[in-house]
Amino acid sequence: MEDIKTMFEERTSVRRYEREPITDYALSVIYSAILNTPTSYNGQQFSVIDISDQELKEKIYDLTGQKQIKTCNRFFVFCADYNKITLLAEKKGLQMPNVTHTVDGVMVGIIDATLAMCNAVIAAQSCGLGSCCIGYTRTANTEKLAELLNLPKGVFVVCGLAVGVPREKPDVKPKQPKGVVIHNNVYNSEGLAEKLENYDSMIKAYNAVRSGTKTDNDWCSHILDYYKEMMNYKMLEYLKRQGFDVVR
Ligand SMILES: Cc1cc2nc3c(=O)[nH]c(=O)nc-3n(C[C@H](O)[C@H](O)[C@H](O)COP(=O)(O)O)c2cc1C
Repeated sequence: MEDIKTMFEERTSVRRYEREPITDYALSVIYSAILNTPTSYNGQQFSVIDISDQELKEKIYDLTGQKQIKTCNRFFVFCADYNKITLLAEKKGLQMPNVTHTVDGVMVGIIDATLAMCNAVIAAQSCGLGSCCIGYTRTANTEKLAELLNLPKGVFVVCGLAVGVPREKPDVKPKQPKGVVIHNNVYNSEGLAEKLENYDSMIKAYNAVRSGTKTDNDWCSHILDYYKEMMNYKMLEYLKRQGFDVVR
């Protein structure tokens, strides 16, 4: 295995994959990483749908428009999941608290599923594979996707992850510097706007010369455009349909 620090520094999303399948060993490493995810109270409030069926991948591509989903070897869908504990509680005749009606219940499910996905990203990279998180799995055509994946009440999609043998080595995107991301002991807003302005210019310069499509985007307006799009997502309705009728 390459040096861990270098591995983290060189991580990028990979969106183009070879046709060859990932090995059984690599898949078992990814599964181990997922199964031993740290979770709230060891509640394991998540499930993962491992999609290898090409026809199903293409149907999900049709819903999301993200071509990595049909070209990757495995598409993993990470879900928050309270169906499992509900089933067991019912079987044991125990009262299931209405945790799916609370913001914290939703947050715990999202945190558990996200940590599992993050473990899978690192596991894939350590096996020489490439991956790309696909947020459109959460936001595009939620009703149809829930139907395609046969999601019961108490389960909703947090994010998808495409994994395959890499066919590209993208540039590492410049990230915010240490002084902007990591605060020592307490949050420090001093000079933050100026440091962010520097980062904004750094991204603008990078976007002008990067390999692939070049743009004159800075970081701030690009992200604000994304937030504008985000304002149209109907997540509350989606959560309600999946049994998460959040009231507090
Ligand atoms: C939650 C999440 C959702 C994402 N959704 C998508 C997506 O739908 N399509 C895509 O091409 N990339 C997606 N990405 C990848 C990001 O665009 C990528 O991580 C970001 O641009 C930084 O690039 P890097 O991963 O190469 O450092 C997503 C990443 C995360 C963490």
